[in-house]
Amino acid sequence: MGCIVLIKICVILCIHVCFLFPALNSPVMKLLRSLLLALVFVSGFAMALYALSYLSLNPDWGFLESKSPSVKSGVVWQFCFYGHLLAGIVAIVLGPFQFIQRLRKRYPKAHRLAGVVYVGAIVVGGLLALYSAAYADGGPIGKSGFMGLALAWLITTVIAFAKIRQGKVNQHEQWMIRSYAVTWAAVSFRILIGVGIAAGLTFDISYRLTAWFCWLVNLGVAEFIIYKLMQARGQKKPAYQETITQ
Ligand code: HEM
Repeated sequence: MGCIVLIKICVILCIHVCFLFPALNSPVMKLLRSLLLALVFVSGFAMALYALSYLSLNPDWGFLESKSPSVKSGVVWQFCFYGHLLAGIVAIVLGPFQFIQRLRKRYPKAHRLAGVVYVGAIVVGGLLALYSAAYADGGPIGKSGFMGLALAWLITTVIAFAKIRQGKVNQHEQWMIRSYAVTWAAVSFRILIGVGIAAGLTFDISYRLTAWFCWLVNLGVAEFIIYKLMQARGQKKPAYQETITQ
């Protein structure tokens, strides 16, 4: 428990120090940025391990214990829930490797193959999650939040794929940052629920709000990271605002 709190504090501190500090290219900032990325990746892998634990198919494991029996005994729901878990595990583990420049340059074919698997997993996982979302806890606010999350997952990823097919490398990179930010909502969901409860909300209210905030906050942070990246590279605007295509 203490370890989780420490990780949360580290992530929040790193975000502030790395992206709100003006001297972005100093060696200390570069080191802290790498630390932040490492934390994002490690927490993604930890999430994948947690999701793997559901593959024991125990109908009372984890959150399934509190899920209504009429929902969790449905064959279609089970197919969609477990299918989205498998797809989510593939996406959250594979995604980080796509951002490592050295790997991209050294093994371009592996980057392309992993990219196709990442996109395929999200297209399948997004559609399955859309169905699961219709049966999510948290009433209309919770259900619509998860549906928004599934749609954001599908849209950002399909656009990232379309951009690279059109040869627009910068835009592809930016949409991949957005896509992984949405994939990482699986982690921020669990962090923000805890933050909500620590702030005095009941579990139910925190669950409903987090179904929305887990991906909206991540997309906001992604936008900020893209902006800072463009600034560091001397580009004034994100690529989608440019009129000249690459
Ligand atoms: C980004 C798109 C995603 C959407 C739209 C989505 C949607 C959902 C929905 C609707 C539920 C059931 C909630 C309920 O019935 O109240 C759920 C649960 C779950 N999802 Fe996802 N999910 C996504 C990504 C992921 C990823 C990437 C992972 C892991 C790698 C993951 C792991 C889980 C787990 C473990 C649960 C069980 C709940 C828990 O133990 O906290 N999901 N998800």
